[in-house]
Amino acid sequence: MNHHYLVLSVLAIVLILFTVQCTADELELVYQWTQLGSESETDHRDFSFGSPPTDNSEQFNAYGNLPMGVSHHKGRLFVTVPRRRPGIPSTLAVIDMRSTQSKNNPSLTGYPHYMVNRLNPEFAADSRRIVSVYRTKVDICDRLWFVDTGYLEYPDNPRQVQRPSLWVMNLNTNRRIQRFEIPEEMVEFGYGIPGITVDVEPDRCEDAYAYIPDYQWRNLYVYGLAQNRMWRFSHNFLSFEPRFGRFNVAGLQFVWNDGVFSLAIGRRDETSKDRPVYLHAMASISEIVVPNSVLKNETLARSGEDYNERFRHLGPRGPNTQSSGHAFDEKTGVLFYAEVNRNAIGCWNSATEFHPENHGIVHLDNKEMIYPADVTIDNEGMMWVISNRLPIWIYSRLDVTEYNYRIWRQMPEKAINGTICMRN
Ligand SMILES: *[C@@H]1O[C@H](CO)[C@@H](O)[C@H](O)[C@H]1NC(C)=O
Ligand SMILES: *[C@@H]1O[C@H](CO)[C@@H](O)[C@H](O)[C@H]1NC(C)=O
Repeated sequence: MNHHYLVLSVLAIVLILFTVQCTADELELVYQWTQLGSESETDHRDFSFGSPPTDNSEQFNAYGNLPMGVSHHKGRLFVTVPRRRPGIPSTLAVIDMRSTQSKNNPSLTGYPHYMVNRLNPEFAADSRRIVSVYRTKVDICDRLWFVDTGYLEYPDNPRQVQRPSLWVMNLNTNRRIQRFEIPEEMVEFGYGIPGITVDVEPDRCEDAYAYIPDYQWRNLYVYGLAQNRMWRFSHNFLSFEPRFGRFNVAGLQFVWNDGVFSLAIGRRDETSKDRPVYLHAMASISEIVVPNSVLKNETLARSGEDYNERFRHLGPRGPNTQSSGHAFDEKTGVLFYAEVNRNAIGCWNSATEFHPENHGIVHLDNKEMIYPADVTIDNEGMMWVISNRLPIWIYSRLDVTEYNYRIWRQMPEKAINGTICMRN
């Protein structure tokens, strides 16, 4: 009997050690939620419509609050909740990590505060407020960038409340630096803008550019901060790939035709001084690349087809690698993909040829990482991921007694350890 116990104990310890060894470099779970605002109302003052009275008779709807994007800056996590259902108090929220002890169901607070997030009575337009935000980016100059689509995707009552607009916030003062309305000559509706990527060098904060994909119209909008102007690129490579529109997530099959979805800025070429901008459509397994000097050039953008051959097809990433967001890590030179069709974070080291064989997986979890919706890398080099089970939310029903939304992190050099993306 005792002997058996000993064997079992040793076996258990070996198993535990083995598990720790194997998962040590995977992503670390930071927070998880069953639903947003699922704790008591006092813990979620901003996530209940109780304290500040609502003007438009929308009741707080926990199930409708699906978090989509995450970015980090000095102990604060910015989490977005696009308005795809009524009853969302804040579309842009923040978690102060220093005052958040529990991993489970931490509370969110509207950013910069609740009033900016509040919808007006009768949904009246208001340039001081934000309507719906999908994803944010923090730049090296301590600024938060995002697009307010201005669009309520309420299934029974979709409406464009106001023009889509690009916002830039100073994260040290929490004040708005810039608001730029995306003109109608760029796009008619705000629907279809899933995120933003910022191109800026540390010593030249004023000379910043924002790259804004539009998966619906399959265009790319570029904003120059110094110019305070916007221009547009159209290209066949911004479209989806018809053969790769079939998705299979958590047992649910569906077909999407989302075009250009995410851009990531690679290492600077010391000869040309250009940086490659990697981009892909959601319904696709290919990566496209274009020099950032092309995107920054408004004259070129307005020239029509002159830039056509500057967009290059890098190659396929491999089967089932459809990806929402991706992010480039400057230190390791690795591109990380949020792979929605296989519940994984994928990787490719940019020092290697772009082939499926040179693509790896740093984390895969068919239960806890269903639908990684965003991946960003902060100014300290930490990678952040959010997973939200979106297809279940859309096509089936989330089990609200389970943890459904998760935020993860890992240092890129640890994440790639032991994978093909590690270089010796
Ligand atoms: C922008 O593109 C135009 C047209 O190709 C070219 O003449 C010009 O030199 C480019 N400007 C810069 C700054 O590269
Ligand atoms: C990579 O893994 C090896 C073996 O587990 C370990 O010794 C090393 O410290 C790890 N490196 C990093 C950067 O985590």
